[in-house]
Amino acid sequence: MRAYDIIFKKRWNKILSSSEIDFMVKGFVKGIIPNYQMSAFLMAVAINGMNTDETLSLTKSFVDSGDIIDLSSIPGIKVDKHSSGGVGDTTTLIVAPIVAEAGISVAKMSGKGLGHSGGTIDKLESIPRFSTKISKNDFIKQVKDIGIAVVGKIGNVVPADKLIYALRDVTATVDSLPLIASSIMSKKIAGGADAIVLDVKVGSGAFIEDEEKVEKLAKIMVNIGKCFGKKTRSIITDMSQPLGNAIGNSLEVEEAIKILKGNGSQDLREVCINIAANMLLLGEKVEDLEEGIEITEEILTSGRGLDKFKQFISHQGGNSNIVEDISLLPKARYKDELVAKYNGFISKIDCKQIGIASIILGAGREKKEDIIDPSVGIVMEKRLGDNVKIKDKNCTIYGNDFSKIEEAKKILEKSVEISKKRVSKPILIKKIID
Ligand code: URA
Ligand code: CA
Repeated sequence: MRAYDIIFKKRWNKILSSSEIDFMVKGFVKGIIPNYQMSAFLMAVAINGMNTDETLSLTKSFVDSGDIIDLSSIPGIKVDKHSSGGVGDTTTLIVAPIVAEAGISVAKMSGKGLGHSGGTIDKLESIPRFSTKISKNDFIKQVKDIGIAVVGKIGNVVPADKLIYALRDVTATVDSLPLIASSIMSKKIAGGADAIVLDVKVGSGAFIEDEEKVEKLAKIMVNIGKCFGKKTRSIITDMSQPLGNAIGNSLEVEEAIKILKGNGSQDLREVCINIAANMLLLGEKVEDLEEGIEITEEILTSGRGLDKFKQFISHQGGNSNIVEDISLLPKARYKDELVAKYNGFISKIDCKQIGIASIILGAGREKKEDIIDPSVGIVMEKRLGDNVKIKDKNCTIYGNDFSKIEEAKKILEKSVEISKKRVSKPILIKKIID
């Protein structure tokens, strides 16, 4: 087999066999296939796509490139969740303790920020002393003891994805359905859970903005999950504006605490309740979604979710006093505001640009090596459809560097539009695919 022939075949939109796909992935991970050939292959896939069997084969080759985490010693059905990437998506911090409190084990690997979208690991690491690096044995023991653990990485899971994603990122091949689906699903499958709830984002802050394409992605991923014997559901949720109000790591921890205390953004609360209820359903804790929603709401209102969050923080070495005293979280030195220039309604938010503004402040990385500033970020005071009056506060910007605050402010100014006409609020939960 030769890489050249496989690239040529895909370039002419022919169907590849599983051994051809495996040859490319294995060869690349071993360093036998150079970057330029893998780049050409990825571009051919991005342009011509892959059919169901090819996408499954690609996922399998990805999974086989590294370790598969064995969670079988943890009793019960282990349910994982995944977000396809968004801005201000604080859901894991809220959903994981709720689901654990309801009696379903959450043994979760999470990622760092990717492009304009934030990462759960960066958010958790903004909690003083919190460790996302624990050994596999400690990880499993913690889940057995308290029902929840969230780590960055256990073992060598899907090394192929890491290497290939780095190439996709610089070759304009990120937004390809088979490449996204295999990237996400291989990591979930190798993560060892029995069931997976996928929160697939649509809108200006998502990796894919087009609703039809997103639905296709959601279906492809559900099919992959099922073919690997995992109960899988996709929930398509709105990302036409940041989720909740806060974007930025410690700001989002603060936001998660608010929700767990029964306050906070109604949008974020609704999405969290829906994801948690679906996880309880797949975990066979409840008979239907309504019952899942009921249990979730009870856990939120009673404060049991908050107690579980505290326990989770202290088990991973973090200072759980942050829950009572928010001032213990890292705080930015300066803040600035963006105010409305006209009376009207918030008609459009360029969500991706808001993610980029938060990166400029230091909440995300421009280059892989960059170090996150946990204290900085943006709080969106107004949401799509909200009525605003001239000089009303639209966003608060938190930063540690005046020039960066100015730069972020310029982006934000261009990213929020106000119209005279009333506009409706976006539907949050667009579709469930199972
Ligand atoms: N998230 C991933 O993990 N992979 C992708 O390709 C896109 C989003
Ligand atoms: Ca948020």
